[in-house]
Amino acid sequence: MTKLIYALSGPNLNLLGKREPQIYGSDSLESIHERMRACAGDARVEARQSNHEGTLVDLVQEAGDKADALIINAGAYTHTSIAIHDALRTLSIPVIEVHLSNPLARESFRHVNYLSPVASATISGLGALGYELAVKAALHLIERNGN
Ligand code: DQA
Repeated sequence: MTKLIYALSGPNLNLLGKREPQIYGSDSLESIHERMRACAGDARVEARQSNHEGTLVDLVQEAGDKADALIINAGAYTHTSIAIHDALRTLSIPVIEVHLSNPLARESFRHVNYLSPVASATISGLGALGYELAVKAALHLIERNGN
């Protein structure tokens, strides 16, 4: 059966490429999605973005119903959202958290992270490469968990 990986992006990540490129790089979100698909092999990548917390909760729940793994960059909701934390902790599939920048090397309000404790792994500070590594990690964890 073809494996399905959900890739969820939170607020302002639709602006990638234009938004603070010195921090987040010059790749658009669409081109990052293409790079993820290019290294996903036979697996399918379902990529979604929302600026709204409740929509992201809905999408996490949808991933739990449909996907074999979830890759999530919740943007600023990483640092604030108990609702996304609660949604993630209901999942039994691997969850890879990604950040383009390294939030721990930035402002102190970015040092609070509600999502890492409920992720299988976190990849930070590698820019767009982090998303490709997250696909590899997701496929590895799907295989390792025998799904
Ligand atoms: C981010 C880091 C967050 O602190 C920030 O709010 C973002 C992007 C990252 O990918 O580096 O929107 O998640």
